[in-house]
Amino acid sequence: MTDRLEIRRPDDWHVHFRDGAVMKAVLPATARQFARAIVMPNLVPPVVTTDDAEAYRARLMDCLPDDLDFTPLMTAYLTDGTDPDNIAAGHETGILTAVKLYPAHATTNSAHGVTDLTRVEPVLRQMAEIGMPLLVHGEVTDPDIDIFDREAVFIERVLKPLLERIPDLRVVLEHITTAESANFVRSAGDNLAATITPHHMLINRSDLFRGGIRPHLYCLPIAKREQHRLAVREAAVSGHPRFFLGTDTAPHAVKDKESECGCAGIFNAPTALELYLEAFEEDAALEHFERFASLNGPAFYRLPPNETRVRLTREPTETPGPLDLPDGNTVLPFRSGQMLRWSVDVVG
Ligand code: DOR
Ligand code: ZN
Repeated sequence: MTDRLEIRRPDDWHVHFRDGAVMKAVLPATARQFARAIVMPNLVPPVVTTDDAEAYRARLMDCLPDDLDFTPLMTAYLTDGTDPDNIAAGHETGILTAVKLYPAHATTNSAHGVTDLTRVEPVLRQMAEIGMPLLVHGEVTDPDIDIFDREAVFIERVLKPLLERIPDLRVVLEHITTAESANFVRSAGDNLAATITPHHMLINRSDLFRGGIRPHLYCLPIAKREQHRLAVREAAVSGHPRFFLGTDTAPHAVKDKESECGCAGIFNAPTALELYLEAFEEDAALEHFERFASLNGPAFYRLPPNETRVRLTREPTETPGPLDLPDGNTVLPFRSGQMLRWSVDVVG
């Protein structure tokens, strides 16, 4: 049995840091484990232009503790009014790594999202030309489509036609939750990849209602049936180059989760690597962990892998309790208080 693993330091290819006091409270949890992270732009108001992204990056760097070595990779939120030249200029100067597509009203703070992809076709064509990735929240917003079917329908109605129209566009299908997504990514060309969260490897839709309603397990896309969890998990542990780590850590105050209309999002940053490791170990796939966590993502994003390393040791750790915010609210980590089998140290 492997008790110790040393791998290149991982990156998190999908993170919500928010802004202000919440950002300050949650940033160290990610920066402690990961060397880089793709920063989601769904602030209120959203990060839309290169200037917005530059200012947000400065706010993140201002509250990063001095002893943590961490680089935020910024994204712009695609709107019907996005200017292709602004996006291309941001990419050219290194401020923008990617662009995020939220279909309008698909999830938290997505009211400014794209209403019709034909409106943003000039931006997407420009991105295909310069090789800039489009990060996709893959759910249709049609209220007639059952919430558990929204991802699979998105592939048929939106993603396939988009890739047929612009075959060179580089796309990351974010936080996949279905067998359909895993199969589609596998069968696609080198320009389509997917991120996978720890929670979608660990919970299915029955867990949301185990013994009562579990608001802290509610996120979007919502967890699906067991057969889908297994398919997503199989994709992650397979070592396939176009599946990689993206936690979708998404903090909300406990009062906003435990409410009549609770927010979508799971805060898994404090023990993200430990959670993934549990799944890889259970599936006897620890030898693929470095690819998933530290190699496949940089290769897709055309960035070098990190030179620093982390040591993963089989040593029980407890998931921390609630994180206090200055306004008296708290944020609850995924599986707070529960024991994990692995612990993580950055070895430099
Ligand atoms: O569960 C989610 N939470 N899914 C998303 O797409 C957004 C995120 C958030 O920002 O809270
Ligand atoms: Zn997200």
